[in-house]
Order: sequence, then structure tokens, then C-alpha cells
Amino acid sequence: LDDPSADPFEVARTAAADIARLTGVERHDIALTLGSGWGKAAELVGETTTTIPATEVTGFSKPALEGHPGTLRSILTPSGKRVLVIGARTHFYEEHGVRRVVHSVRTAAATGASVMVLTNGAGGVNRGYTPGKPVLISDHINLTAASPLEGATFVDLTDLYAKRLRDVARTIDPTLDEGVYCQFRGPHYETPAEVRMAGIIGGDIVGMSTALEAIAAREAGMEVLGFSLITNLAAGIQTTPLSHEEVLQAGREAEPVISGLLARVVEAI
Ligand code: 6GU
Repeated sequence: LDDPSADPFEVARTAAADIARLTGVERHDIALTLGSGWGKAAELVGETTTTIPATEVTGFSKPALEGHPGTLRSILTPSGKRVLVIGARTHFYEEHGVRRVVHSVRTAAATGASVMVLTNGAGGVNRGYTPGKPVLISDHINLTAASPLEGATFVDLTDLYAKRLRDVARTIDPTLDEGVYCQFRGPHYETPAEVRMAGIIGGDIVGMSTALEAIAAREAGMEVLGFSLITNLAAGIQTTPLSHEEVLQAGREAEPVISGLLARVVEAI
């Protein structure tokens, strides 16, 4: 993937073939990326049939962070859906390039998945949000100044976070808040002024992932569903300093709620 003359879609097809060989599962129906706080949330989705270290799959790099397990799992749901669980996210701030950031999404598409579920831990800008609660992503603002698309690839993003899937999620939990996700580059958290800006331009949530992946998923023809777990309120909205430990702790506390939600949504998709 670091070779500019390599075709990233070809690398993704090779990765999908690795997954088929290592799991014995030829096709997956749905892919699910687990962000901060969501690590254990897939456990109710179904039975894990295989766990693969991500480093055994072409194009995946070592995880940089605690709380990011670095595995790919094949899960079989009670109704027989095959779910590829991606616990090996590469963040834009790791500086491995956008191709690496979206490689898991392209690989998921190459395994046959038609729905990409993206989850993350994020900061709340909207004062109506409660830390520890999941928010449905309705749209995003990409503040990374990057795109996963190369060359003159013009992709329509009108219904990027598919209304059909958001309706499914809200049928399962009518109390779900919806919000616009702003992807910042990170890895520092935002300043209070940047958080105010995010709110003024229409953002409700700030984080360091998801938007670039969602664009790649749409390019690959997948439907996208996104959830943010509000792990804390953003700088200036909350008065105490932000810490990665706080983000992980919020995830541990929210686990029972978000696990149940995810399991029911995946079955209903
Ligand atoms: Cl406040 N900002 C960003 N960018 N990511 C976060 C966060 C805040 N809280 C958790 N993840």
C-alpha cells in the first residue's frame, strides 16, 4: 500500500482472499469496525467463529493504541448473517497515509459486505448529549483536508449515512440522538475555540476517525451506518481536562447498553 503504483483495490482483494482462507468463510454480509469504547460491544452480535491477528492479513499494520485489539473476527449471528468485525483501525494521525486508513473498509467490501457499520468514541459538542450514550451519526464534516479517493473520482455523498439504516437503528432505540460528526486530524484533542468552531459550522460530535472510512465505503458501493459513543464532552464544554483513560473508562461503563444495541441493529439490517 505504500507503493504509489500499487492498486489499493487489488491489495484489498488480496486481503479479502486472506480472510476467506483464514476463516473458511467465502463471503461476509456486514462489516463492523470497533472504535474506542466499542471493543467488547460485538460480543452479543453472535458467535465468533474465527479470530485472526490483523497482521496476518495483507495490508494491515500493527495497532498503535491500547484499547484497539488488532484482530479481525468472523461472527455468525443467530439468523445466519456473517459479520466481519474489524478491531484493527488505522488512524489518519498515525501518518501511514489515507490508503492504510481505509484499507479495512475496502477489504470489507471485497469480502462481499454490503453494509459498513463504523463506530467510534468521540467528544460531545452538542450540550444535549450525555457522556456514556451512543449517538447515531447523521452526516459528517471532514476536517482532515484529505480524501481516500484518488484522481478525478467524484462520489455523491448525499445519503452517506444511509437513512434506511438510521431508521432501522431508531426503530430499535427510539431515544437515540442523531448528530453530525466532525473528523479532526488529531492526535491532540481540540482547543475550546476549535470545539466552538465545530459547533458553529454544524457539528455535534468531534473525533479522529470514521469520515474518511465512510467516504471509502460509499465509493466501494456499501451502505454506511455510524455510531459515536460520547465518551466525554469536548474541550470547553466540559471543564475538566480530557484524557485517553477517561475515553476507555466511558467505554467500559457503556458496554452493556451499546452491546445490546449493536446486536439488535445488526440482526435488523
Ligand atoms: Cl473531545 N475530540 C476528539 N477529536 N476525539 C475524541 C474526543 C474529543 N473525545 C474522545 N475522542
